[in-house]
Amino acid sequence: MPQHVAVIMDGNGRWAKKRFLPRVAGHVKGVELVREMVRACLERGVHYLTLFAFSSENWRRPQEEVSLLMQLFVKALEQEVEKLDRNGVRLRIIGDLSRFEPHLQELIRKGEEKTAGNTKLDLTIAANYGGRWDIMQAMNRMLAAFPDRREGWQEADLEPYLSMSFAPEPDLFIRTGGEERISNFLLWQLAYTELYFTPTLWPEFDTVEFDKAIASFQKRERRFGRTSEQLVDSPDA
Ligand code: IPE
Ligand code: IPE
Ligand code: MG
Repeated sequence: MPQHVAVIMDGNGRWAKKRFLPRVAGHVKGVELVREMVRACLERGVHYLTLFAFSSENWRRPQEEVSLLMQLFVKALEQEVEKLDRNGVRLRIIGDLSRFEPHLQELIRKGEEKTAGNTKLDLTIAANYGGRWDIMQAMNRMLAAFPDRREGWQEADLEPYLSMSFAPEPDLFIRTGGEERISNFLLWQLAYTELYFTPTLWPEFDTVEFDKAIASFQKRERRFGRTSEQLVDSPDA
């Protein structure tokens, strides 16, 4: 089983369009699938689930769609945190939260606080998140923490400041909706992640589809730069 699954939930708009519905109907349906995905991870023992909900580039969408997405985010936090908590899920939101309205920021803070003691599943929602933003904010905080140091920085120096420092790197990345790109999601953390792309639109990505992605992951050989023979001889080296 992958320990950490990261997902770009794409295709809500096209799902709605196919049904002659407004795009936002696709986002509403998409929230339902998030619930199903959380349940599936709890059942399968996936320990970290990281979902891309809103990219730093998504502000470029029509203002009406952006504001409906924000409303949905607020509603989801108001309605779901209690249930997440009961199921042992720890919620975190990563991204530049400063651009959200104060009420939303407050809901995020409360949701994180309420679920902070839970250990069954770490659910992370990336909102106003960008992989480049993450690396830059980490670098700025790292440099501020060591004002007298000028050189010799290592990868391990930066890692504690990245948004996902609490989690192992994703084992499996899934992008629904047919596009085969990263769209500025977790750039640093995906360096050795197994990538899975599917044409299935997010509102149709049910547990059967999820199991297909897991099965594909389980067939892969993760070599991390080594040869296949090395892995057979000493799998843990
Ligand atoms: C993903 O679905 C959800 C968000 C980016 C918020 P889209 O809204 O991108 O759906 P498509 O790609 O237009 O079908
Ligand atoms: C990526 O989807 C971000 C989210 C799913 C939140 P987009 O639909 O915005 O990505 P692009 O613009 O097609 O790359
Ligand atoms: Mg899209």
